[in-house]
Amino acid sequence: MFGFLGEAVRNYRTTGAVAPSSRGLARAMTSNLHTCEGPRRFLEVGSGTGAFTRHILQGMRDGDSLDAVELSAPFARRLDDDVVAPHRRCHPGQSVRVHQCAIEEAELDGPYHAIVCGLPFNNFPLELTQRIFDIMLGLLAPGAWLTYFEYVGMRPMKAPFVGGGGRRALRSHGDFLSELERDHNGRRTLITMNIPPAWSVHLQAASPSEDTHG
Ligand SMILES: C[S@@+](CC[C@H](N)C(=O)[O-])C[C@H]1O[C@@H](n2cnc3c(N)ncnc32)[C@H](O)[C@@H]1O
Repeated sequence: MFGFLGEAVRNYRTTGAVAPSSRGLARAMTSNLHTCEGPRRFLEVGSGTGAFTRHILQGMRDGDSLDAVELSAPFARRLDDDVVAPHRRCHPGQSVRVHQCAIEEAELDGPYHAIVCGLPFNNFPLELTQRIFDIMLGLLAPGAWLTYFEYVGMRPMKAPFVGGGGRRALRSHGDFLSELERDHNGRRTLITMNIPPAWSVHLQAASPSEDTHG
């Protein structure tokens, strides 16, 4: 918790939180992992110190794999040492890799059967948010789910402090995210037991039958 806070203060733009997410939010974020049989490939983006990673790992079976991408070197080291290495020792039949880099730079091959994303999009320029969603949606298997979260009321709360240009940017962000929800069968779950309360937002990649009908 205190290590997380230190990194958040040093790098607030990319961390975007003052504490790791709660178990309630982690449960909502990982609720779409078990929609397919057989060996499954999972991707987590912005793992931090592993609040969601722990839940993903708990649900994995032999043959499954997880790629966890985390930008911050101290967080990636803690994730590997405290969460991933102990799991690897107990579950040698599963593949878990931590990639310490930005998702925009990560060398990953899709398709993934689920993506869990913890990035603080409201702190990013719109172009970066758009680029990252493009990458993630391009890595999803047909019909699979991408889940991200946002704090409740974050954009209206920020608006009075950012000036006219900042307010326009927040509005375009909101418009872009709403459009994504419209185009990808969007669903939301409200998690009040989190500091601050958050929405988990679920987006679904088009399935092959939808592709053929245009
Ligand atoms: C809001 S924190 C979430 C951490 C954790 N998933 C949780 O919910 O407690 C966002 C995380 O995303 C990471 N991050 C920010 N930009 C990133 C990027 N472009 N690629 C990968 N990770 C990034 C930050 O370093 C930080 O650990």
